[in-house]
Amino acid sequence: MSLLQIGDVHYPTFMGQWTSVDNKDKGTTGGIPGHFSKPIASIIAREISKEVSSGAIAAIVICGDLTDRGDLGGFDQATEYLETAIGVGETIPPESVHLLPGNHDVDLADEMAFTDLTSKRFDVLESRLLLEKSVLSLTKDFRISTHASGNALITVGSLNSTKANGAPRLFPSITVDDPVAELLRSVDPHGILTDSKSLVAKVTVTSPSMSIQEILDIPMIDPNDLDEIEDSSSSNQSGLMVVAAHHGFLPQATPRFGPYTEMINGGQVRRRLLALSRPVLYLHGHIHEESLETIRGSGSNAGVDGPPIVAIAAPLLSEGFNRIVVEFGAHGRVLGLLLYRIRVDRGTGGLVSSVPIRIPLAARKTIPVHLRAFFSTLMEYRASSGGDLIRLGAEARFSLSADEVETATVEAAWSGLIELDSDPADSFVEQEYSFR
Ligand SMILES: [Fe+2]
Repeated sequence: MSLLQIGDVHYPTFMGQWTSVDNKDKGTTGGIPGHFSKPIASIIAREISKEVSSGAIAAIVICGDLTDRGDLGGFDQATEYLETAIGVGETIPPESVHLLPGNHDVDLADEMAFTDLTSKRFDVLESRLLLEKSVLSLTKDFRISTHASGNALITVGSLNSTKANGAPRLFPSITVDDPVAELLRSVDPHGILTDSKSLVAKVTVTSPSMSIQEILDIPMIDPNDLDEIEDSSSSNQSGLMVVAAHHGFLPQATPRFGPYTEMINGGQVRRRLLALSRPVLYLHGHIHEESLETIRGSGSNAGVDGPPIVAIAAPLLSEGFNRIVVEFGAHGRVLGLLLYRIRVDRGTGGLVSSVPIRIPLAARKTIPVHLRAFFSTLMEYRASSGGDLIRLGAEARFSLSADEVETATVEAAWSGLIELDSDPADSFVEQEYSFR
């Protein structure tokens, strides 16, 4: 099963992105160079549509910031663009698509002024979707969907991390030196006011109207919504837990000066996700950078070898998007992830997929005991293809079926007992493994 992670759209800037043409000819050439420049939006839409049509995509996460500045018309157009590109309701059911708000989707000047930490003001965006007859649903607080294939299970929980976006900071009370006392001290050439200390006085200035000094952009995840993730995790213990939000819970890599620009309860989110004691994939946007970070810690049942949180940031949609394949072993055990970074090549106008990045999630200790004997027999071969292993399995005194050999080998590679030396996309028979 696979997931698509779509990063910040930023409509309408997104619509102004075109592929590059290296035009050195300043003369008139019949408009030919323009013919070679293609809108990025249509290239990406075509690729998303191809991905979803393959039928392998279980769920799609749209990580917020659909608009540049909370412009509601832009929100309509961005959601319509995505809905059409994805084919929501046709190639994938609406409940499998998680649409998250980003801080840029909040229209602070008008209909969405900050009142409190409830999600009520996001009704405006929700009603726009209804008005446009969109089948997409916005995650105003949290939303959970589950996706099963055989005994493999993915639970996706999306969270609104922008509830405190637009919180007003009021003009603070400030205490300053009394200007009259200051003046008297400065005009005392004869030293008459010898005890200058007695002249020091302070005055407190408070804005009479308690006017707003600043609008703050405070990323946070409501602890009540984290409770919901925890509840859904405990009711569906098996499989992969995916958590999606606009903001990352880890600080961004680029130094940033700005009050409250990092998630204020990021540490709490990190601790609570680790405490789920199962592999968690955290997907986010916001930073306009691609990143992949893995955290291990001590959850309630896990030590440093316990299941990790893998946090992946998607770049701006104009750069491309991510496909994440989730690999499962026998009995639906989560083995790991393959991250494909699908990126726009602005020169050729095509999309290029990175080699898959393997992210193991299986703990080494979980290799079934009866199969360890099989692998220890194979150690002497040093390196073998999947095809060789199937033959050896049949000849071995354990007489393993081809399926058993494949399952065991794939699990052992994800668990770090053996190494995969070839392209993970190849068939098992073609794969090359080496034994330590
Ligand atoms: Fe953004």
